Amino acid sequence: MPSVFFSSLCRVPQGAPFYLVMERTFIFEKTSVSTNTELKDKIRRSQRPVWDVISADVQTGGRGRQGKSFYSPAGGVYFSAAFPLKGTEDNIPFLTLSAGLAAAEALEAFGIGVQIKWPNDLYFHGKKLCGILTELVSGPGGVAAVVGVGINVNMKKEDFPPELKDTITSLAAENAPIPEKETLIKEIVSRLDTFIYAENALCAAAHYTGRINERAYLTDKRVKIVSENDSLTGTVTGIGPDGSLLLQTENGIREIRSGTVVI
Ligand code: BTN
Repeated sequence: MPSVFFSSLCRVPQGAPFYLVMERTFIFEKTSVSTNTELKDKIRRSQRPVWDVISADVQTGGRGRQGKSFYSPAGGVYFSAAFPLKGTEDNIPFLTLSAGLAAAEALEAFGIGVQIKWPNDLYFHGKKLCGILTELVSGPGGVAAVVGVGINVNMKKEDFPPELKDTITSLAAENAPIPEKETLIKEIVSRLDTFIYAENALCAAAHYTGRINERAYLTDKRVKIVSENDSLTGTVTGIGPDGSLLLQTENGIREIRSGTVVI
């Protein structure tokens, strides 16, 4: 059973004098297998568009990109938010980077300066602080994107599993300010609501790439991009106008839209 449950109205301008009024329900649970999986199941069963945000103190089966698991012990902030889509959005993959920007700007509002590591992570002092998993789902109420965000907040360095301790960090481990959980979640979701519904970011990615590039972790780094049948090495020059990763290779600039980045 959820421990806290409340709704809040969110008014987003749609070009004066029109507003889209949506009611987001925030559900706070002690444990979830995966808040993304839980929210997707709910959308698959719902006759109406779902605007829920589900968070859990612990995930027993937290999921990351490419079928990987996501370390989700007590001390993190884990949540998933549903974003009903119209079907006219022309750059759905940009949702993940938009979520990264929303989370980065929300953390900055608490005095925490992070970087965006294309395509779905936030880095803090050179280590992973946050991962984002975006999944599309359709149900009787329409198509929605589920954006899941996991932020390492209170975990102690000495509690990190040995295989992760050189690559991940938490706010507590870096002696950073610790935002209040509900406020942080609402701050991220409301920024993303504004991007998607008020500013139409999924049809206007170029408008945001300046803000993403200011925080881009990979710029000027030499990386290898590994995809299913291929790998490509080069130096990252930034994020392109559609949200792709720009890689300077020996054969010119390549626009990377998917793959795993190896530094
Ligand atoms: C990644 O690092 O590859 C993405 C991790 C995404 C983790 C979040 S935590 C909340 C939501 N529920 C999940 O199972 N995954 C996402």
